[in-house]
Amino acid sequence: MKLARIQAPQEPASGRRPVRERSGTGPYSMSVFIIFFWCLSATAGEHSTAITTSSDQSELLCHDWGMSVDAVRVINGEAGWLFCPLFSHSLYNYSSAHSSGLSLFWYHLPPEQDLERPIKYSQRVSKDRESLWFQPANENDTGQYICTLRNRTSCTKIAMSLGVVSSGTDCPHLVAMVPLTVPIPVQEGKTLSCPGLEHAAKMADSAPSVTWYHNCTKYPFWDHHREVKGDKLFVHQMGLMYEGLYYCRVSYTRKSLPLKFTRSLNVTAVSPSFTSKVPVILIPNKERKFHVRLGREAKLVCRVTFPFLENSPQAIWWTVDGKTLDSLTHTRFSETNRRVEEVTYGDQTVVRELLLTELQREDLMTEFNCSVKNNKGFSTKRAQLQEEAYSPSVELGCGLGGTLLLMLVLFLVYHVFWLELLLLYRSWFGTDERYTDEKEFDVYISYVRDGEEEQFAVSTLRHVLENHLGYSVCIFDRDSLPGGTITDETLSFVGRSRRLLVVLSPGFASRGTQALLELKAGLDHMALGGHLRVILVQYRPLKGQAWVGELRRARGVLAVLRWKGDKSKELTSRFWKRLRLELPLQRRKDSELGTVRTYQSQSSTSSQTGLLSPGGLAVHKAQYSGGKL
Ligand SMILES: *[C@@H]1O[C@H](CO)[C@@H](O)[C@H](O)[C@H]1NC(C)=O
Ligand SMILES: *[C@@H]1O[C@H](CO)[C@@H](O)[C@H](O)[C@H]1NC(C)=O
Ligand SMILES: *[C@@H]1O[C@H](CO)[C@@H](O)[C@H](O)[C@H]1NC(C)=O
Ligand SMILES: *[C@@H]1O[C@H](CO)[C@@H](O)[C@H](O)[C@H]1NC(C)=O
Ligand SMILES: *[C@@H]1O[C@H](CO)[C@@H](O)[C@H](O)[C@H]1NC(C)=O
Ligand SMILES: *[C@@H]1O[C@H](CO)[C@@H](O)[C@H](O)[C@H]1NC(C)=O
Repeated sequence: MKLARIQAPQEPASGRRPVRERSGTGPYSMSVFIIFFWCLSATAGEHSTAITTSSDQSELLCHDWGMSVDAVRVINGEAGWLFCPLFSHSLYNYSSAHSSGLSLFWYHLPPEQDLERPIKYSQRVSKDRESLWFQPANENDTGQYICTLRNRTSCTKIAMSLGVVSSGTDCPHLVAMVPLTVPIPVQEGKTLSCPGLEHAAKMADSAPSVTWYHNCTKYPFWDHHREVKGDKLFVHQMGLMYEGLYYCRVSYTRKSLPLKFTRSLNVTAVSPSFTSKVPVILIPNKERKFHVRLGREAKLVCRVTFPFLENSPQAIWWTVDGKTLDSLTHTRFSETNRRVEEVTYGDQTVVRELLLTELQREDLMTEFNCSVKNNKGFSTKRAQLQEEAYSPSVELGCGLGGTLLLMLVLFLVYHVFWLELLLLYRSWFGTDERYTDEKEFDVYISYVRDGEEEQFAVSTLRHVLENHLGYSVCIFDRDSLPGGTITDETLSFVGRSRRLLVVLSPGFASRGTQALLELKAGLDHMALGGHLRVILVQYRPLKGQAWVGELRRARGVLAVLRWKGDKSKELTSRFWKRLRLELPLQRRKDSELGTVRTYQSQSSTSSQTGLLSPGGLAVHKAQYSGGKL
């Protein structure tokens, strides 16, 4: 039943007209071929029922096995041969097939052609039992070869490919040939014979001769551990330096025609045969625990060393409570493919991982075992799982680090731009006190007369405040009317101002009667809540005795704005920014508030460059008038 299902499609072929469609070379036909042999070994003896040939009276159906995996390469100009694959897998026995009346026929299908042709036999191309010989082969021999085994009622066939390749001559450059791998345990010996020699011996007039090469160096070699006796190469004691590609060239004559062929051997040193060949599980082991977290994914690694063993299967698999993953129904567990990590002296380190999605508490109790097996033994080890407490350190660290960084940045920004930030804040959220009080002046400038500070107060301060910043400024000497009592007038003016700007001066004690009066009036007003603030401006550093009592008290509670000479001249300097902070807020976008305000300057001499011109003592009075639209 099984065989009938996988039987390859049959196609008709006539004995007289061996015309054949190009056989598929794809994996399908190949796999059919492989599956067939698998089934054959599974149900040995039943194959005769499988290869049924529905024979018609006139047409003979030929059972087609497709393309064989055995592909042969021959060097152009050298001898080569093909074995019919029908006999190479003990499917048929040539002797018994022949004696039971079955005959073997070869057909050639050159590349890029549709018709297969019967072989024209000659001295060069000949048939010997189940093999087809080319002595020598040339490039026209490339293509597919179909061997057909047939009697009057039954027919079966299989195709294989032959490649005729070119090669250099001086050293056997057999790059195109896949070398036969020959492992030799170190310190041990092995006898190498040239593959195919026994076949050539049957064709040759006399015994063929063999020449050996190592890495293109012709025998004799430099050492005494390798020796050629007859046609064989004896490696007495294998060492690392004897690794490499070996070539053997077989020369013979057939019917007096000289012929040759070359084979290559890849000789590698492998671990000695006296060492244990049982696979060793490196991980998991008792010491190593897999740290896992509930609800998370877990990956259990199995790392194994398979010692070098010729023709031994290597198996590595995971079990869950003694069951293989194939037999488990739920899919929370899966295995990765095995992967060779390292090869030293033929010993392979192989890794295979078990993946657990969403680890659950019962998994901690489960027995996850990694098992390995080869011809020499079996081994299994359990993976030790350890629950790892949830540590939010990474998340916390990142969060904390980010916050700290942000704070640092904000701190730096604040320190560099705090004045700007305050001004900005004030311009957005501050209130313009000039709408809410009845005062006449924004700033009253107080200074010691006849000093250096007078010039500063009257020209620089007043000029900027009036002409650039648009404040209404009161200067007693300018704005008071002659005739009144100085004390009353001073008190009255100070009372009608929003800010009292005191320019500190060393002469405060000696010549500062008026200034002291103003300061005292201002401080009293401030203390009584008269909507007045005192601002101290220091034009020059003051010495100790200049700090008279009033001033010392004022300095204790008020900040002092220091004039830094040239550095403070720019309107964008700290001095002016700090001063603006102390002065009443002016809303710039007045029109938005529905208010039109004009600053009319009676003199238009001021320049708006932002750089202070020293300016004369010309009397300006900025008049402030505001009104609703
Ligand atoms: C083929 O069959 C013959 C006898 O029929 C037997 O002597 C020979 O060993 C067989 N060969 C193979 C390769 O099985
Ligand atoms: C290969 O075939 C071509 C065309 O049939 C022929 O000219 C050529 O001589 C052949 N080559 C050899 C080496 O026989
Ligand atoms: C042809 O070969 C098949 C199987 O190999 C065999 O069963 C059959 O008897 C043979 N037929 C003849 C006429 O020899
Ligand atoms: C031969 O070649 C192999 C690999 O290319 C190298 O390891 C080895 O040393 C060579 N041996 C000699 C004798 O040149
Ligand atoms: C020879 O065999 C070794 C081990 O199998 C391999 O690594 C190396 O590539 C082979 N060399 C050649 C030329 O095929
Ligand atoms: C799993 O491995 C341990 C050794 O680590 C072994 O004792 C136990 O029997 C193994 N379990 C199974 C089911 O193979």
